[in-house]
Amino acid sequence: MSKKLWGGRYTSPTNSEVEAYTASINFDVELAYEDILGSMAHAMMLSYCGIITTEENDQLQQGLLDIANKISQNQLQFSIEDEDIHMNIERILTEKVGDVAGKLHTARSRNDQVALDLHLYLRKQIVSIVELLICLQDTLLTLAKQHVQTILPGYTHLQRAQPIYLAQHWLAYISMFQRDIERLENSWTRVNQSPLGAAALTGTSFPINRQHVADALGFDGIYLNTLDAVSDRDFIVEFISAAALIMMHLSRMSEELILWSSQEFNFISFDERYCTGSSIMPQKKNPDVVELGRGKTGRVYGALLAVLTMLKGLPLAYNKDMQEDKEPLFDVIKTLRQTLSIYSPLVSTLKTNDIIMRQAAHNGYLNATILAEYLVKKGLRFRAAHEVVGKMVAFSISKQCSIERLSLHEMQQFSMIISEDVYEIISIDNAATACISSPLLNEEITMREQQLRANHTWVSEKEDLLKSVYLKYSLPYNPMLLMPHSARSSVG
Ligand code: ARG
Repeated sequence: MSKKLWGGRYTSPTNSEVEAYTASINFDVELAYEDILGSMAHAMMLSYCGIITTEENDQLQQGLLDIANKISQNQLQFSIEDEDIHMNIERILTEKVGDVAGKLHTARSRNDQVALDLHLYLRKQIVSIVELLICLQDTLLTLAKQHVQTILPGYTHLQRAQPIYLAQHWLAYISMFQRDIERLENSWTRVNQSPLGAAALTGTSFPINRQHVADALGFDGIYLNTLDAVSDRDFIVEFISAAALIMMHLSRMSEELILWSSQEFNFISFDERYCTGSSIMPQKKNPDVVELGRGKTGRVYGALLAVLTMLKGLPLAYNKDMQEDKEPLFDVIKTLRQTLSIYSPLVSTLKTNDIIMRQAAHNGYLNATILAEYLVKKGLRFRAAHEVVGKMVAFSISKQCSIERLSLHEMQQFSMIISEDVYEIISIDNAATACISSPLLNEEITMREQQLRANHTWVSEKEDLLKSVYLKYSLPYNPMLLMPHSARSSVG
């Protein structure tokens, strides 16, 4: 049993179950590159401030780089005995470069180290998730452009309400994902702050330069208050709550796609690559992918509640409870990444049944509102017009026909102000276009195209910044998840 890095005051070894219980290496291995990046910048700063020598810094840099390369080649074994990613890396560094490794932790604590790693890690993920959202927006915009003429029933209370264009429907989701992107972009200013230098809680007596590290790592600023720096996890809560909204949007879309693909609606069909069959019923083509998207929303909500609850009773500053932020966070990132990556191709390969959609818009008196508005424009009060059309609908139901099938004479039994021009007005095409004209729809599309370009610009600016930071330290920049990476364990 190797001695703990913090074992100075201890005379007996940790209980093995406690060791397994307190260890986080099985999941915080996810932070490996960011831990190394943070350590490299910290060592550079120590040498810049004269706290370690240039030679010592060179040795530390080389050792840390070697470790990063070994991780890329999946050649490192981490150990439960070393508890977390921070102490595992320090142990491996010691094995590589000897005693000088013991200088790396000067003027630093795992408390500001883990906070730093999380900030570095999350900002990388935010950029990548915004990129995935843009890709989905792009797919939806292509569909919207293809369907500026496709009419289908719009629903309220899942009852046919008024005719709409399929383009409008897809554009509604583009709006939701735009707000999601803006939420993530907005959180950037708070994520991109450096907590390093707070040490355990109150800073350090060493003459460090916190701004030096922040600049080297591309941060916009440093935490002003050191107690806050090590105990703040708001940025994680913000991220997970933005993720919860993304999943909620995806889930609503999923629900609709599930309904629309049913034989009852028959508005769409999924490409065979994006659905699965039944083990017993040979005819089945199940929308399992979108059902899972809907189902996985629950685990993201759960993660939000887990982290909020974990934080609510914590006194300042760091508490070990905070280790519990990682598994929910990583799970949310994994869920988001997988779901968003699958939804773009799934949506772009959907087949829409335009004829069925149009037929559906003809049934259900979807032109009743435009007829009432016609009567108002001819001088009736809206309430009176509503009443007249209500009676016309009831009459048509009894005749089992649509309103436009009534003769002018029949219509005039309800109101003498109805004239021949009514047929043109209440046609499904007119009912749709009267509320949203083609120019208006195209304007919305153009606006979204511009926004999409702005979103792309944001991503490439941030990506360039982050890539340049990783490149400076010869580290790989890759938002793909590192897990699963298992740790060697002497306990069961
Ligand atoms: N694994 C810990 C975490 O994730 C790192 C910080 C531990 N600090 C401490 N003082 N025990 O929060």
